Amino acid sequence: MTDLSGKVVVVTGASRGIGEASAKALDACGAQVILTGRTTDDLERVADQLSNEPIVLPADLSLAGAGTALAESVLNVVDGVDALVNNAGIPMRRMPEQLSEDDIDLVFAINVRSLLTLSIGLAPSMKKRGGGSIINVSSVAGVRGPGARVAYAGTKGAVDAMTRALASDWGPDNIRVNSIAPGLIATAIWEESRETIPGLIEDMEGQIALKRWGFGDDIADVVVFFASEASRYVTGETLVVDGGLARVTASAKPQVLPELLD
Ligand SMILES: NC(=O)c1ccc[n+]([C@@H]2O[C@H](COP(=O)([O-])OP(=O)(O)OC[C@H]3O[C@@H](n4cnc5c(N)ncnc54)[C@H](OP(=O)(O)O)[C@@H]3O)[C@@H](O)[C@H]2O)c1
Repeated sequence: MTDLSGKVVVVTGASRGIGEASAKALDACGAQVILTGRTTDDLERVADQLSNEPIVLPADLSLAGAGTALAESVLNVVDGVDALVNNAGIPMRRMPEQLSEDDIDLVFAINVRSLLTLSIGLAPSMKKRGGGSIINVSSVAGVRGPGARVAYAGTKGAVDAMTRALASDWGPDNIRVNSIAPGLIATAIWEESRETIPGLIEDMEGQIALKRWGFGDDIADVVVFFASEASRYVTGETLVVDGGLARVTASAKPQVLPELLD
């Protein structure tokens, strides 16, 4: 197993879903995890399952100044951090005509602004420790052109672009910056739709080469890779983790394939 003993890692959006799975995977490798999100009870529930003196720091990343304030809170409780998992994010499923300016501001405030300000706030402490790893959770929505998600897709494209730009800025400080672009992961983001929209689960599976939805663990293992020395020569990259969705043409009906063969 990867050894992250002695490493301090901040995980945003750690109260459930991909963030919860990532916090658990990092802790299992020996890292001390600082968990953040808005819902203290859920953060405490996750922290109770961790072994390496986890720290809970609630924060609402939609607010102006929140990323900078959170970085200060982190550095008040630990000497510095080795990795940051910028995972907190909200979806915004609306047709362009239905989007208000408040909708656009909200999704950009959480998914983009706070991600950048928190990174800026914590990078100096990584530099002091001789380097670090910033892991941004973007989305296949930033890679392909999903319907009814223009604002969300814009935030995730921005995350991937900032990933490359920060990798350039902070590479000389040995701070690596990468993003993970998950595909369809069965978390709270999809819970209601999965339960209420007939055929959604099967329809989506039909578009995925591996023919299944992803789970938090599928992303968490890649988070561990980017937090570890195994990825020491990787920076500025976006790794799509989607079972073959964004860049693979999956046949929804494999039984028609024989008809297409010469
Ligand atoms: N699930 C997917 O299919 C999928 C696909 C591609 C990308 N992603 C991305 O993966 C990341 C995690 O998604 P998920 O599926 O795990 O979603 P989730 O289960 O809804 O979790 C979202 C996390 O973000 C936190 N959060 C939301 N608003 C916040 C705010 N204003 N301030 C601070 N924290 C906030 C939530 O905590 P609180 O509610 O406690 O604040 C929660 O811990 C997101 O960036 C998402 O865009 C997900």
